[in-house]
Amino acid sequence: MLTQRIQAVQPSPTLRVTALAKQLKAEGKKVINLAAGEPDFDTPEAVKKAAIEAIQEGFTKYTPTTGIPELKNAIASTLLKERRLSYRPEQIAVTCGAKQALFNLLQVLVQAGEEVLIPSPYWVSYPEMVRLAGAAPVEVRTDPASGFQVERKALEKAWSSRAKVLILNSPSNPTGAVLKAEVLKDLARWAKERDLWVISDEIYSRLVYGCDCPSIASVSPEVFSRTVVVDGVSKAYAMTGWRIGYLAGPAEIVEAAGRLQDHSTSNPTSISQRAALAALTQDQAPVKKMAEEFQKRRDRMVERLSKIKKISFVKPDGAFYCFVDVSATGLNSGLFSERLLKEALVAVIPGGGFGWDSHVRLSFAVGLESIQEGLDRLERFIQGL
Ligand SMILES: Cc1ncc(COP(=O)(O)O)c(C=O)c1O
Repeated sequence: MLTQRIQAVQPSPTLRVTALAKQLKAEGKKVINLAAGEPDFDTPEAVKKAAIEAIQEGFTKYTPTTGIPELKNAIASTLLKERRLSYRPEQIAVTCGAKQALFNLLQVLVQAGEEVLIPSPYWVSYPEMVRLAGAAPVEVRTDPASGFQVERKALEKAWSSRAKVLILNSPSNPTGAVLKAEVLKDLARWAKERDLWVISDEIYSRLVYGCDCPSIASVSPEVFSRTVVVDGVSKAYAMTGWRIGYLAGPAEIVEAAGRLQDHSTSNPTSISQRAALAALTQDQAPVKKMAEEFQKRRDRMVERLSKIKKISFVKPDGAFYCFVDVSATGLNSGLFSERLLKEALVAVIPGGGFGWDSHVRLSFAVGLESIQEGLDRLERFIQGL
């Protein structure tokens, strides 16, 4: 009954743990949730107000498919100011979350017989989106010893003449690694040599802690013209439910992605677009405050984790995740996560879905007390193995 297309797609690897966590909570157990993939902060007040005003004004009808001009202008200004990237409005499309931007880009850039290079550990949806486009995902292993930086020699090893696109994600979900400027310069040269398109997922770029997070598109004019940048308001503005993302890149690709959107979702919600406009144009203090709070939590998590035996990790420079090697416990990521949840009531995400079954992902998008209590329980669990 079902198509080969959907049969090739794996269910979300986070479902099992989150369903079990929910069940335990419903039974009245005090589960510490270190599995969150979204900020625990509330959407800023000015953003909510803009959405309420949009409803009251009757701004509740179709808009242009790829977004209202004011929002595209605000995105262009943000990209120029924060990422040093200059785009005309027709080079920008607003989408239903960054997820739709990525999905649409893969639909218009790759097809059967072509390959997409994906550095691992990777965000769970990339390989599935590539398969849904009929193409093949190809894993490029990175190394914790070099801070999960994407290296030319690993790319060369994975490359074949079928490769058409390279996906980069800096800061990374799940490692929190931020690609360094000199690494990006080398990747830019390599992408040109191999004639690849680059999709640069920069959804966490405003959440970095004490380092720069350059965009590969800003490295040189050559790479700018072969890169599509994907970003959105979900993570930085605590707006995951509003579903506003965007892509920016060569006009021909953006137009094609827009055509696909015309015949699928049409415009992202009109009200959310007004909210996103407020988010990007308001005083940016709430974003700074959230980033500062995340940095405190990152520091607390790293300090506490470093005292726990039998695990290792690379200190994350961005996003809100810590990717922890648990292989010395003798358990794979699925078993480790399941037992940790059942025996110690701590939810984490198994790394298998990110391509690394030796690791689990811990989120610091929770308060400091939960981090403290969760890691105390983690330590006792590991000691008891
Ligand atoms: C790396 C990465 N890219 C894209 C997304 C999707 O973002 P959005 O909620 O805007 O669709 C996520 C969300 O978890 C993510 O972690």
